Amino acid sequence: MKITLAFDVYGTLLDTNGVVTALEKLIGNQAQAFSQTWRDKQLEYSFRRGLMRRYDVFPVCISDALDYSCLFYKTPFTDDEKNKLLHIYSTLPAFDDAVTSLQKLKKSDNHLYAFSNGPIVTIEKLLTTANIRGYFLDIISVDSIKTFKPSPDVYKHFVSTSNAEKENAWLISSNPFDVIGAISTGMKAVWVQRSKEVVFDPWGIEPTITINTLLQLKEIISSYYNE
Ligand code: LAC
Repeated sequence: MKITLAFDVYGTLLDTNGVVTALEKLIGNQAQAFSQTWRDKQLEYSFRRGLMRRYDVFPVCISDALDYSCLFYKTPFTDDEKNKLLHIYSTLPAFDDAVTSLQKLKKSDNHLYAFSNGPIVTIEKLLTTANIRGYFLDIISVDSIKTFKPSPDVYKHFVSTSNAEKENAWLISSNPFDVIGAISTGMKAVWVQRSKEVVFDPWGIEPTITINTLLQLKEIISSYYNE
């Protein structure tokens, strides 16, 4: 049996709050809220572009969402300040538990992929900078089919490109919308609930497994198959 793991990137492997420190220097105690709005808007813009069939690459969603957040918080950053923030977004740090978990999984027979809304060149650079590129067989991006998660097409694209067995293909993600998207196409999914405050959407579609940290991943997948 071939077990294939598709790791979401932003927020699952890489910490998108990495920009908060830089934002604090610019806008003090508004930084956390700004960072959250910026992240939420990126995703909203990707959903809307998918629905409208007006695809553009995810870094455009990130940049447009930054402009929106500046307008919303009435913080008119200069082009230089925006470029610095965008640069941080392209060099985000890996979560500590991601590194340890990948080290453990690398010794297993599981097939590991990064699977993201970001284009391949962007994700290649991000994972390399975060020192975790070597753990993955490949990067699979929605960019190849010009739409975004959670379109069912992107999960089908993952399964076919990775040559996975669909019933043994797992999405690993901290994003509930991503987990629901994968499950509804017949994949399995682990939801990484990084904080107790994060609520899973009550749609009646549950994650196959929920964990609090990626440190639990290897054991939880093995025990799923050994039960
Ligand atoms: C990604 C976003 C959804 O990496 O986190 O695909």
